[in-house]
Amino acid sequence: MLRIAVAASGNGSNFENLVHQSRQKKMPSTNIICLITDKQNAYALDRAKQLDIPHFLFIPNLFSNKQQYEQAVVQTLQEQRIDLLVLAGYMRIIGDTLLNAYPNNIINIHPSYLPAHPGKQGILDAFHAGQLSSGVTVHYVNEKIDGGEIILQEKISFQPQETIADWENKIHALEYQLYPQAINAINPFL
Ligand code: GRF
Repeated sequence: MLRIAVAASGNGSNFENLVHQSRQKKMPSTNIICLITDKQNAYALDRAKQLDIPHFLFIPNLFSNKQQYEQAVVQTLQEQRIDLLVLAGYMRIIGDTLLNAYPNNIINIHPSYLPAHPGKQGILDAFHAGQLSSGVTVHYVNEKIDGGEIILQEKISFQPQETIADWENKIHALEYQLYPQAINAINPFL
């Protein structure tokens, strides 16, 4: 079994989807062990409670620096015997402490066809670029923002009349398919 922790700062719809996919054996040999969050008011926390998944809240301001904060996260991940850290809307840059503790075992999902439109507003930036296409990318996390090795990515086309809300809906729907597929692709237990 691949023991997974999901990190999320907000809504947590990808987190919830991964829990369902794992439980329905669409991600065989995986176990979503816990949720990690940095935000007390993250809706992902409510989802974790409803799904009966243990959750750990680390408030960055309560630590003296990023290293101490990440060290606390690493300690919990190790206590929980986590193999893979899955970022799903986790809005912090991963630092050396986490990267060194989990080399090549942290992955992220980004709502654009990287390397196009990295950063916090991937959907909006692609929408305003006016090219009527974007996508979703799952990649390993390294020290470059949205710059690690790509595991899986897929494009989506849009019609001129589609709104930003349409873009968001289609991109999220693709995320819910692609993240489980990417995890299956790298799961050493399959
Ligand atoms: C997703 O669009 C993901 O690609 C990006 O953050 C968003 C998280 O959404 N990294 P949710 O919290 O899973 O609903």
